Amino acid sequence: MNDATPHPAAAERVAEYLHQHESKGLLRFITCGSVDDGKSTLIGRLLHDTKLLFEDQLAALRRDSQRHGTQGDDIDFALLVDGLEAEREQGITIDVAYRFFDTAKRKFIVADCPGHEQYTRNMATGASTADVAVVLVDARKGLLTQTRRHSYIVSLLGIREVIVAVNKMDLVGYDEAVFRGIADDYAELAARLGLASAQCIPLSALRGDNVMQASPAMAWYQGPHLLGALESIQPQRHRPDALRMAVQWVCRPNQDFRGFAGQVHAGTVSVGQQLAALPSGRSSRVSRIVCRGADVEQAGSGEPVVIALEDEIDVSRGDLLVDARHPVEVTDQFAAHVLWMTDAPLLPGRPYWLKLGNRTVGASVTEIKHQVDVNTQAELAAKHLELNGVGLCNLSLDAPLPFAPYRDDAQLGSFILIDRQTHATAGAGVVEFALRRAANIHWQHLDLDRRARAAAKHQQPRCVWFTGLSGSGKSTLANLLDKRLHARGQHTYVLDGDNVRHGLCKDLGFTDEDRVENIRRVAEVAKLMVDAGLIVLVSFISPFRAERRMARELFAPGEFVEVFVDTPIEECERRDVKGLYAKARAGIIPNFTGISAPYEAPEQPELHLRTVEASREALLEDVVRLLDDQAPA
Ligand code: ADX
Repeated sequence: MNDATPHPAAAERVAEYLHQHESKGLLRFITCGSVDDGKSTLIGRLLHDTKLLFEDQLAALRRDSQRHGTQGDDIDFALLVDGLEAEREQGITIDVAYRFFDTAKRKFIVADCPGHEQYTRNMATGASTADVAVVLVDARKGLLTQTRRHSYIVSLLGIREVIVAVNKMDLVGYDEAVFRGIADDYAELAARLGLASAQCIPLSALRGDNVMQASPAMAWYQGPHLLGALESIQPQRHRPDALRMAVQWVCRPNQDFRGFAGQVHAGTVSVGQQLAALPSGRSSRVSRIVCRGADVEQAGSGEPVVIALEDEIDVSRGDLLVDARHPVEVTDQFAAHVLWMTDAPLLPGRPYWLKLGNRTVGASVTEIKHQVDVNTQAELAAKHLELNGVGLCNLSLDAPLPFAPYRDDAQLGSFILIDRQTHATAGAGVVEFALRRAANIHWQHLDLDRRARAAAKHQQPRCVWFTGLSGSGKSTLANLLDKRLHARGQHTYVLDGDNVRHGLCKDLGFTDEDRVENIRRVAEVAKLMVDAGLIVLVSFISPFRAERRMARELFAPGEFVEVFVDTPIEECERRDVKGLYAKARAGIIPNFTGISAPYEAPEQPELHLRTVEASREALLEDVVRLLDDQAPA
């Protein structure tokens, strides 16, 4: 399951709740804490004491407490929140759960996120929609690494107000000095993170002290109890003033009407207002606004509308409508903080899908400026990001998108990165700023085009891409093919891994990230050569599917021919022409493909050559035949 987005059923429940309680002030908050901080107990108590629980749920809880509970005959509130059997058994919460409760003053949605380190990504998911964070600290332990990490992530995601629940005060004898020490430590952290406020409350979730009643055991504390603080806090998330609306669909009920439907996400829209559609930038005046079935003069933030324009400008689903006087930037390169959420590391140069709002485009990280140590906020050099890593990255998109820095507009400034093979959410990002260089480089028009260059050489330019293990016979075949085509008078060139690594790629080694960059460079060079009219023979191990696919996508259909030179590793090792396998086995060469580094065999190559079954001459004929038969259109 894609756990970076709330479960659809959960999203529906949130929508229904919002619908029912639009009028009453609503506060969304997230709770974060470490595994044993008592977070589930605290939320369970809030839900219970605000009478949200129905009697039958309570009865079930009593039964469960007797079976699984750790609190003797008392109700174990943690069981209420830790809904999943697996969680009960492991004693950790493993996903984001949204819960609702209300008091006379306010409605609340609480995103309950797990404290276990592995699930930082779930916390980021919860934090992205929250106004306030409640950070739990165990009074006996003080600030932990997790406390710092969670506080950093909530601040990264734009939360400005934190309530620090110093829990388990009963276990430290309700000692004021313990509380003051923790409050001082947190004040220092809050200052470093630039939080607007960090209110500390001493409490005991288990005993109910200062949860929703002042605690007689802590008369020294004069501040509000937790619920009181939640009822009165005024979050200050920045919301833009000018109109922003993403077009969810274009509706055309009949010949005479064409409208753009969506929900106003910021600002207001009025009849007569000049709007711009982004990314195209074309503009027109609003002729009609339909809201909930009736024509209106104006509509504001949160309202579902259909907007009709005076002119027939080209607007499609996913476009952004903005006030023409206050457009947002459109760019294909920006800097962003990226939080990595998956086991396969983020590698610069690797292609991902980037989804921002309801648009998805191809994207890659061009550079990791630095990684942030989420525990200390120190900036570290990094070549890749691992699971739960956070880094400031430069990204390059395949197409320009309208966006805003996250601090100005959370909706237009947040995105997810999607793995192109598995379609899983691989990372989440918050945009910091556009990179100007994107705006200042234009495509230089050349009068001679690729067709003219190809025609002068009387050939179809191609990229023949040989992939396979070291010693599989790629270079031998590329060399034979080169000679054959040359003899026919064709214009060719061989790009060979070993050779290119002596020049263009001599700064690169054999880590995953270096290989990704190696293939990116050679694919770009091959593309230039094909553009110049050549038949390029590329002979690189190119061990990853993602990069071979990226290379393929640089070319027109039929121009790229992937040839899998399939030689079993035992055979490569037996031949060991360069003596490298022996060294790799001896541990002298690290990250050796097939031994200590992966090789992902092609799934659908244009040609699959099994080298142990045929002579090299016969294999060469297979390639030549394929090239002759499948000349691109
Ligand atoms: S790739 O993985 O980035 O595509 P490339 O084809 O450029 O590799 O280079 C592979 C050649 O480098 C091999 O044929 C071998 O001669 C040499 N080599 C040196 N170290 C390694 C290693 N650790 N893994 C694979 N090949 C290596």
